[in-house]
Amino acid sequence: MRSAELDEFVEKVSERTDIYSVVSQYVTLSQRSGRYWGNCPFHNEKTASFSVSPDKGLFYCFGCGAGGNVFKFLSLIENISYFEAVKLQAQRLGIDLPKKKSSPEQERRRREEKTLLKINEIAQDFYHDCLIKTARGEVGRKYLAGRGITAETIETFRLGLAPEEWDNLLRKLTRQGYTAQQLESVGLIVKRKNFTGYYDRFRERIMIPIADIFGHVVGFGGRVLTSANEETPKYLNTPETILFNKRNLLFGLDKSNRAISSAGAALVVEGYMDAISLFSAGIKNVVATLGTAFTPEHAKLILRYARKIIFCYDSDEAGQRATVRALPIVQQAGADVFVIKIPDGKDPDEFVRKHGKEAFEELIKNAATLIDYRMNYVLANAEHSTTQGKHRALQEILPVIVNVSNPVTRDEYCKKIAAELILDERIVKDEYRKLLKQEHSSEPKKISVAKEPKTYTEEESRIQMASEEILRMLWHEMDILDYVLTVLPKELFSPCHREILNWLESCAAKERRPDKISAAEELSEEANAELSRILMSGSDEFGKREIALFEESIATLRQIVLMKKFYKLKTQAEEHIPEDETTYNETVKELIKIKVEVDNLKGNA
Ligand code: UTP
Ligand code: MN
Repeated sequence: MRSAELDEFVEKVSERTDIYSVVSQYVTLSQRSGRYWGNCPFHNEKTASFSVSPDKGLFYCFGCGAGGNVFKFLSLIENISYFEAVKLQAQRLGIDLPKKKSSPEQERRRREEKTLLKINEIAQDFYHDCLIKTARGEVGRKYLAGRGITAETIETFRLGLAPEEWDNLLRKLTRQGYTAQQLESVGLIVKRKNFTGYYDRFRERIMIPIADIFGHVVGFGGRVLTSANEETPKYLNTPETILFNKRNLLFGLDKSNRAISSAGAALVVEGYMDAISLFSAGIKNVVATLGTAFTPEHAKLILRYARKIIFCYDSDEAGQRATVRALPIVQQAGADVFVIKIPDGKDPDEFVRKHGKEAFEELIKNAATLIDYRMNYVLANAEHSTTQGKHRALQEILPVIVNVSNPVTRDEYCKKIAAELILDERIVKDEYRKLLKQEHSSEPKKISVAKEPKTYTEEESRIQMASEEILRMLWHEMDILDYVLTVLPKELFSPCHREILNWLESCAAKERRPDKISAAEELSEEANAELSRILMSGSDEFGKREIALFEESIATLRQIVLMKKFYKLKTQAEEHIPEDETTYNETVKELIKIKVEVDNLKGNA
């Protein structure tokens, strides 16, 4: 729901925003003919076809068709929603968000959430103090020292120790006035089996606080001090709570997001200890999943900071299988994916402790591309001895190759697959082509803005050009909308232009002037980009020349409409000649009328 305050807020941010200064933070722009040009950040190109017009507050790429206002730009480049882009820009300008009027129920929930966060914070401090300040912390300090974790790292991650006793934390927190329900709802205590009270969930464990991206502690991972056995799992984690959702959380992101931004890449590891170890070795752009599969939500979180995601899971079978499962998720999210396979040692933690930071950086530099990694994985696990085995491998690997856009590289991959599986290259290519067909017929529309340039027939391009003039005029002068829609049927316009027309009509119905902000919010991505292009490519003036152009365009389109009608009637008339004379005569009269109008128009167009 849009509210007046919200509109006002968006307006305010928009007014104070200069599209040039926003875009130039991401793209190098240079001035040419009243506009700024640069290489488009939304598709790969070598010549600048991305343009920014500060006067109009719009951008448009002539290469890929991406376009819109400044918030559209931010939302595309930061991979955030349109409204998030408005908020981001407001934050950068120091404009406060409008205060939301919330219901008493919402207010209560917000207060409760704050309380729960506070409880976690107290628990974190409690565990931390127990580790560094108390005598019983000795076991924990020894354990961590034995793993090469320094006092500084303990501070950075606020590591702690949960003491042996059954109700230490419970007693401390209830003394401070928190209820057992509250403690249970954040997962810190557990109901006794016989329902007579509660006990601490975490005991005798190294405590690793897990924070959301703002640094609020939302849960914990607790590692046993001794080696794990059947009854005591190595890690005990906070269960799902209203604060703690593993699908949406990445361990370490609150600390590593800056490093991820500046490196342009995030390293994803499996274990808390891997993340802690790499971070303290100076490789700071690292996050860990919380013992669960990598989700699209995780990918989205990372994409806010960097496009490149480097997987570095354990080198054992489980780790490699988890990598393979994660890859399509990340790829679909639009990230550039790379994979590191630890050559020596089971996990990143072991490797970096054994070989040091530089050696690890070398691994990063030599990370395999997604395709190479997938190929090697499938080929290494393929059953090379049977035809069936080879075909299974082929079916598994080809979908990966489909995503390679460079045909030469793709060809090389096909050759490599054929060679490795000892198959005829033609078979590989045939199978590849089959798959390509399927992919194209079932491919959902991508959010990506890149699209093939369209080719028009002569008539289509006349319609296209005339429609642009008309839409541009309508943007400035909504009063002529009725006239336009009376003389021209909507069906004549391309689907994209029709969408814009319908939208203008709905603005008129609401007695609202069309503006760029609502265009970006309400039009499809394609229509919004097209509108930007139209507005940028014509003049802002509103003089005789523009009016003449508009009238000419109406005449052109009107002629096309009439001629279509003419030919349709003509065929009809011819069909009626033998049987129905009256209909025939009527039709001919109609035809003559059309002809007269067309001739009149010709004088005009
Ligand atoms: P690992 O066993 O690789 O953990 O499990 P690690 O971080 O390398 O720990 P160390 O080095 O043995 O101390 C990877 C991740 O899987 C989850 C945890 O998130 C862990 O960091 N996990 C593992 C659990 O949740 N429970 C377990 O019992 C084991
Ligand atoms: Mn480990």
